[in-house]
Amino acid sequence: MTAPDQPFRTLAGMRDLLPPESGRRRDLVATFAGVVELAGYREVQPPLVEELGVFLRVGEATDVVTKEMYDFEDKDGRRVALRPELTAGVARAFVQHHPQVPWKVWYAGTNFRHERPQKGRYRSFDQVGVEVLGVDDPDLDVEVVALAWESLRRLGLERIRLLVNSIGDHDDRARYVEAVRAFLDSRRGELSEAALATAERNPLRVLDTKRAEDLAVVADAPLIAEHRSAASAAHFERVLLGLDALEIPYELAPRLVRGLDYYRRTTFELVAESLDAAQNAVGGGGRYDGLVEDLGGPPTDGIGFALGVDRILLALEAEGAPEVQPVAVEVFVVDLTDGSSARDLTHELRSAGISADRRFGGGSMRSQMKSADRSGAQWAVLIGADELESGTVTVRDLRSDAPQSPVPRTDLVAELRRRGTTT
Ligand code: HAM
Repeated sequence: MTAPDQPFRTLAGMRDLLPPESGRRRDLVATFAGVVELAGYREVQPPLVEELGVFLRVGEATDVVTKEMYDFEDKDGRRVALRPELTAGVARAFVQHHPQVPWKVWYAGTNFRHERPQKGRYRSFDQVGVEVLGVDDPDLDVEVVALAWESLRRLGLERIRLLVNSIGDHDDRARYVEAVRAFLDSRRGELSEAALATAERNPLRVLDTKRAEDLAVVADAPLIAEHRSAASAAHFERVLLGLDALEIPYELAPRLVRGLDYYRRTTFELVAESLDAAQNAVGGGGRYDGLVEDLGGPPTDGIGFALGVDRILLALEAEGAPEVQPVAVEVFVVDLTDGSSARDLTHELRSAGISADRRFGGGSMRSQMKSADRSGAQWAVLIGADELESGTVTVRDLRSDAPQSPVPRTDLVAELRRRGTTT
């Protein structure tokens, strides 16, 4: 095979996640896991690829399904797709394994949507989230919304807003869709071409418009509140009461319709004020009471949310969170003999839980010390011919002028611990 004319690069909308930012992502997932595990959620890891049909259940009229799916025929001739989100896969797993309910799970993973890439909108992006299956109790909605809010706060975001709505149950929603369709039809002349096309496929999505010309029309659109049944209204009342009780600040967003079609009753979104309006949703979720049935399971209530890891990191940066510091090793071994000591000592230190690195290929004292400085290590451990002979090593504190001192090689781990390595 010949070399390419140009070096290979990542595809549009896909990024390499490099250190030190990659470490921040891992910390973010760990913090999120801490918050939700405290509430009894356990991790689930559905596969990245499923039968296309699983993902079609997020809504045949949505952009996610009609425009953005990474679907293809696999080598067995099956239509499969890379997951665009995790809720459908989790619901499929529920149907397949029938775990005890309530099934409270969390996840962290990469998703793929063939969107128009821009800052905060990628074709490969990460989410963390939770799902609960098998409970129809508005207090669960409160728990789930509160967890989304708490997680973002614990991750350090300060300028966030929580928008809440209820789009009613299955029948309310169907009535509402018809009311919006009729309304949009009556104002066709004032709507943009794009809005008219969306209205054909999915009238509720027009309510989400950001286009100035359509906003004026949308402002007069019917509200779901006028179409909610008494039961849906009572459910929603109880959710709001719970959020008040937990002192979670929310805003009612009567026109909040989400981009996926499986939602029923409670829906919510979290927006970061520090991000541009087009990509400021750092998370969203809601109930999806019909999804499990659509996937072939028994009637089962479900609710969850997902937070966008990439956008949370952008929002943290925009809010001025301190930059991530590269993680340094504690010890750098400088071997001025044949390298065997560096080989053995780094192994020994790491086995004792002390992080250690070295330079490969030898080099002068000067060049090895340069590598030691660059590594950010606090201590250099030097071994020259004299040390080898006397069975010692020299420990030098790279962050102070303290005199360096010889230490018996067999005491090195104990000496480093005495000096305060993290382990
Ligand atoms: P979603 O609103 O499509 O919901 O995505 C949730 C979050 O993922 C968004 O608020 C955003 O932060 C992030 N996100 C989505 N697309 C992109 C993208 N192209 N680039 C960067 N970030 C993105 C869901 O995915 C539902 N599964 C949430 C849910 C869980 N509902 C119930 N349970």
